Amino acid sequence: MSGRVAGKKALVTGAAQGLGAATARLMAREGAQLLLTDLNQSGVESVAAEINATHGAGTAWAMRHDVTSEADWIAMIDHAREMMGGLSVLVNNAGIAITGSVEDLSLDEWRRGMAVNGESVFLGCKHALPLLRENQPGSIVNLSSIAGLIAAHNMANYNASKAAVWLLSKSVALHCARSGWDIRCNSLHPTFIHTPILDEIIGDRDEAVVLGKLARQIPLGRVGEPDDVAYAVLYLASDESRFMTGAEVKLDGGISAM
Ligand SMILES: NC(=O)c1ccc[n+]([C@@H]2O[C@H](COP(=O)([O-])OP(=O)(O)OC[C@H]3O[C@@H](n4cnc5c(N)ncnc54)[C@H](O)[C@@H]3O)[C@@H](O)[C@H]2O)c1
Repeated sequence: MSGRVAGKKALVTGAAQGLGAATARLMAREGAQLLLTDLNQSGVESVAAEINATHGAGTAWAMRHDVTSEADWIAMIDHAREMMGGLSVLVNNAGIAITGSVEDLSLDEWRRGMAVNGESVFLGCKHALPLLRENQPGSIVNLSSIAGLIAAHNMANYNASKAAVWLLSKSVALHCARSGWDIRCNSLHPTFIHTPILDEIIGDRDEAVVLGKLARQIPLGRVGEPDDVAYAVLYLASDESRFMTGAEVKLDGGISAM
């Protein structure tokens, strides 16, 4: 098998659609084996089936997985061992966007956002590390957001949960380095990327009008495409990034340069 991640065994969460599905397709093309997980079981099974039809049976497996459940995480790591024979890459991608100011949000909404976006990354790193240690070199890629670095008045929960992912990634990176393991951990910070997560922002307004408005906030003048992020995950998952750990990679079309 040739490719930039040939021989890698990767678990990608939230892989039924959007950035997770794009990442899965690209990593399969570049030689990885994949365990794809999502709350949406039929969605993630169809992504895995499409990958296996293109790259051969046994390239991708699909499992239902709630990333807020510790029991589910323990089961997924067991599945990675059984199905792929190990784990060398973890992509903590699943996430949700809850909009609202600090006054708009209920405590339940706050806890839900922190659990899906923040706690999930803690659980994933904690439970994957023992198996990653057996398959070094390893790489953990955590999907934060440019909203984890730059706040907005109506994104209180998303800002806070994604900021948690940013510094948790650095702590994990330092823990691995201090322990002498060749396991890296980095965070990704995209701006608006055209996936179903934007439905929360678009609401019942005209999609083209909203995307145009979002694009005008971005120096490069467009909303991102899923592959704009998938190629960064590919780099961080591969040994090409072997000296990069505890770093934040911004994919924001220049927003944070302003
Ligand atoms: N698209 C963007 O504009 C953008 C920008 C910055 C960061 N991100 C981040 O990238 C990641 C992927 O976003 P996307 O745009 O592909 O979103 P998406 O909504 O298209 O896909 C997210 C996937 O996560 C799954 N999911 C949600 N809750 C889950 C749970 N509890 N357990 C397991 N799976 C769950 C969903 O079923 C869905 O398939 C998210 O963490 C998101 O916050 C996205």
